[in-house]
Amino acid sequence: MAEARIIDGKTCAAGVRAEVAAQVAALGRDHGLTPGLAVVLVGEDPASAVYVRNKGRQTEAAGMNGWQHRLAADATEAEVLAKVAALNADPAVHGILVQLPLPAQVEARAVIEAIDPAKDVDGFHPINAGRLVAGGEALVPCTPRGCLILLRETLDDLAGAEAVVVGRSNIVGKPLALLLLGQNCTVTLAHSRTRDLAGVCRRADILVAAVGRAGMIRGDWIKPGAAVIDVGINRVPTESGKHRLVGDVAFDEALAVAGAITPVPGGVGPMTIACLLANTVTAACRQHGIAPPEAA
Ligand code: GUN
Repeated sequence: MAEARIIDGKTCAAGVRAEVAAQVAALGRDHGLTPGLAVVLVGEDPASAVYVRNKGRQTEAAGMNGWQHRLAADATEAEVLAKVAALNADPAVHGILVQLPLPAQVEARAVIEAIDPAKDVDGFHPINAGRLVAGGEALVPCTPRGCLILLRETLDDLAGAEAVVVGRSNIVGKPLALLLLGQNCTVTLAHSRTRDLAGVCRRADILVAAVGRAGMIRGDWIKPGAAVIDVGINRVPTESGKHRLVGDVAFDEALAVAGAITPVPGGVGPMTIACLLANTVTAACRQHGIAPPEAA
């Protein structure tokens, strides 16, 4: 059997960003509207600081307004909530993202629930999570939305496919299972307590790994020809004392079995920020009574 096709998330994300930039230009031209995204970073976590910087850069590259608000690592929950309240009230801000994880003294749930659901471009607020379950105008979490775009680029038709999602987080696993159900897949949401996880994975035409454990999904867990989406980003030490990024799937093993697979890095990762920009455009349009662009 031929080696798996590599699903190129970098190129796909560049396409989404270009589409967003065109939509932003049209909103400016036709409606005098510039979408704006505010990102809040609490503390000094270096990985989070890199993500936030990238978000700011790509927001501005798409022609949108971007603001970064930095709070000290010892900021109180009340201070974070006050920042969110100010951004909720600012009409130039259409999207609010509070970078997770938050320091221990700040409860993430309280912060997420304080964000105006109309500006919740992460799609984490219970109103948006509920609309994703029940139908309605949800803002959909960015990483699952990115995974779905990659799958639709890769496969002609998702309807009727057996999809297995490994990992049940609110950020990836649960919303992605719902999105795949919306595409008429037969969905299994598997997790650390699933019996015979390898056997369950082996049934999958579409296999998504979102567990955060390096190389956990082995080659012989994969159905020949399956589409494999690897959401994991794990830092593993190398012999030279540095580290490299690997996914949740044993990539070299999977390459020989799968029909198509996302690499790490360069697969799902770049799609997340691209979808964040797309969500910001959607949020801005809805706040101004303008029909948003078709969601992917
Ligand atoms: N930290 C890691 N991923 C994410 C994300 O998608 N959104 C937020 N807010 N924080 C994160």
